[in-house]
Amino acid sequence: MFNSKFGSIPKFYVRAPGRVNIIGEHIDYCGYSVLPMAVEQDMLIAVEPVKTQTLQLANTNPLYPDFSTSSNNIQIDKTKPLWHNYFLCGFKGIQEHFGLSTLTGMNCLVDGNIPPSSGLSSSSALVCCAGLVTLTVLGMNLSKVELAEICAKSERYIGTEGGGMDQSISFLAEEGTAKLIEFSPLRATDVKLPSGAVFVIANSCVEMNKAATSHFNIRVMECRLAAKLLAKYRGLQWGKVLRLEEVQTKLGVSLEEMLWITEDALHPEPYSPEEVCRCLGISLQEFRTQILSPNTQDVLIFKLYQRAKHVYSEAARVLQFKKICEEAPDDTVQLLGELMNQSHASCRDMYECSCPELDQLVDICRKFGAQGSRLTGAGWGGCTVSLVPADKLTSFLANVHQAYYQRSDQNLTFEKQSLFATKPGGGALVFLEA
Ligand code: GLA
Repeated sequence: MFNSKFGSIPKFYVRAPGRVNIIGEHIDYCGYSVLPMAVEQDMLIAVEPVKTQTLQLANTNPLYPDFSTSSNNIQIDKTKPLWHNYFLCGFKGIQEHFGLSTLTGMNCLVDGNIPPSSGLSSSSALVCCAGLVTLTVLGMNLSKVELAEICAKSERYIGTEGGGMDQSISFLAEEGTAKLIEFSPLRATDVKLPSGAVFVIANSCVEMNKAATSHFNIRVMECRLAAKLLAKYRGLQWGKVLRLEEVQTKLGVSLEEMLWITEDALHPEPYSPEEVCRCLGISLQEFRTQILSPNTQDVLIFKLYQRAKHVYSEAARVLQFKKICEEAPDDTVQLLGELMNQSHASCRDMYECSCPELDQLVDICRKFGAQGSRLTGAGWGGCTVSLVPADKLTSFLANVHQAYYQRSDQNLTFEKQSLFATKPGGGALVFLEA
């Protein structure tokens, strides 16, 4: 296909995997550690550097049209999350990191098998893959940590205020192990998953593209506002505080204490913009322009108490999950499953990032033998991840298939990618011609 598109052959190939987040949802952008693993599905790009300053992109999937631009004038349209914009994010991130105003051109053919808009991070995999392609074309070197940080930052050109989980695991993943990803400074530690149980991914088939709506950024802003109000309540300098983790670190207290502080400082009723302004002593104008992101300026309701409670409790669950994996007691699988179930309940009730189909799928998975099941990724659609005892796997897959995908009242297209067991895969790689 490369040959028929560009009339030449690729010089090298780059792959970057998608991921499944086992536990720790919507807390990376609050500064807290998360526990994902790479899946084997990935983005793969075939590349030929060219002498002209033209970037030509094609995709093996006919749904994604060809795109071409001059490599020294990269424009990323935030209003439409078109596929090539994710490539441009990675490209621009590297270009800016090295302070280059012009780049050589290239021909790229992109192929991928991560189901899109399903919470398995196909978009970040494309950003990371493009970043590594660009670095390779330039003949430069960066560490995996540097690459992950650059790509996390540059994906925000698309308009979503994501954390760094997806890009970090795409670069830092290693086959056979999940990773605890910690931020500031970014680092990854192996987490050995229990033998005797498997992680199964199931797609609710409700598509959610987080860049196409403001759901995601509203949550980021609610967490930011909660952090500021908590900081102010405890007499800290709240002006520069952006993340809930900063409040905990500045106060030097435990996550459990942060839950109590949240109960004292915030109320469960939603906050209006006026109330937030009164609490912080700022004008509506300052609030909109200096605190909120462009696509959240018209939001009228902020649920600060619920979001902060989710974040602090979820951050604690991640640490407990890692500890149980390390100590490996006899009932490891059951304990991990309980944490995953609690995580789903918190995402559904406190963070409100689930949807009826995900809740239904999680129930079905539990009914047919999962010890734990939860939504994974940003939510509002996409996939669940379930922890299933290995000896129940075959019946689990058959039963879930029948109960969720073969229902007469749901018009779902079941594909091979919809329900599958997964193992921790490896990270991004460059394949050079021998
Ligand atoms: C998306 C973001 C991540 C993370 C998850 C939710 O995948 O890109 O940074 O916030 O949602 O946990």
